[in-house]
Amino acid sequence: MQGKFKPLKGKIPTLKEIKRRKEHVKSIIIPYPRYKSLIDKIEEHHQLSFGSVQPDGLYLYGETGLGKSTILKEYKNKYPSKRIGGSTKLPVLYLTVPVGATPKSVASKILLEMGDPNYDRGTENNMTARILSFVEKCEVEMIIIDEFQHLIDSESKKVLNKASNWVKNLTNDVNIPILVCGMPESSKVFEINEQLDRRFCEKQSLQPFSYQSREDQIEFRAFLNGIDKQLPFPEQSFLADPILSQKIFYATKGNPFYIKKLLEESTVSALKNGCDSITEDDLFISFKSISLSTRKFVINPFNQENFNLIDAFENEIRMKESS
Ligand SMILES: Nc1ncnc2c1ncn2[C@@H]1O[C@H](COP(=O)(O)OP(=O)(O)O)[C@@H](O)[C@H]1O
Ligand SMILES: [Mg+2]
Repeated sequence: MQGKFKPLKGKIPTLKEIKRRKEHVKSIIIPYPRYKSLIDKIEEHHQLSFGSVQPDGLYLYGETGLGKSTILKEYKNKYPSKRIGGSTKLPVLYLTVPVGATPKSVASKILLEMGDPNYDRGTENNMTARILSFVEKCEVEMIIIDEFQHLIDSESKKVLNKASNWVKNLTNDVNIPILVCGMPESSKVFEINEQLDRRFCEKQSLQPFSYQSREDQIEFRAFLNGIDKQLPFPEQSFLADPILSQKIFYATKGNPFYIKKLLEESTVSALKNGCDSITEDDLFISFKSISLSTRKFVINPFNQENFNLIDAFENEIRMKESS
């Protein structure tokens, strides 16, 4: 981000400036190939199903932190709402399933997103009827429903049947393409609801980055390079360096959430030292501050000489097994 962020040359910036630069890191989005192809998939699905006799549903699933909601929100922002002659047009409607979903709580969420001031009023049937009339009035072309795993009760792990049946009926009634998205366990909703499953034949998954094949490595390093170029420093940090990228991969398992978290903290660490790029010391310090409860035996790969990715993962597994 040359130009936009002045060199510090050892001078420690104000907290306000640190905050500004940290927020900048949070906002960096890299449209890497798999990210772009999922956006294209949604676009294709939107355009091919819109106006169809029976639009198809699309299901996107993946572990937390991989960027599902980021993709969905980017897609929604591509089709912003518009006010035309006193009425609001809402081409893409995005909502999340509330925890412990009931038909009414899901319906209410949709009404809220569509701007109904009485979003929490009325019976289930009345709310459903209002949704259908809003969809027509606001010319909604596609509905995106995120956090689909909330249709499963978190304690009993049972599918919340009333709410998922309500969603199934909605997909039949609205006659516009619907995209649902959630963590892998949300597949269970389809397993026990065959009718819903038939409506969502197409299922796409989002996976973390990998470091196995040459292509995987190139994709991951290109992602890091893309972030590096946008970091709020006048100088490059060389995150895509062959050794450093392996260390970042080990530290984050290729999960964009952890990659961003590590780099946000490292940015703050570098700024507090008045530095004009992130150093391996910053990565070392910030990795120490991020606690990974799911990886009790992870080692800090930064500032380690002769780091080897395969050995590091094998050691971690060995320690876990012998504990
Ligand atoms: N393409 C991307 N480029 C940069 N950061 C990303 C990208 N995709 C996801 N992230 C980051 O990963 C984090 C988690 O993304 P999110 O969309 O909330 O994941 P999910 O919905 O799969 O749990 C966010 O902080 C986001 O900034
Ligand atoms: Mg999400």
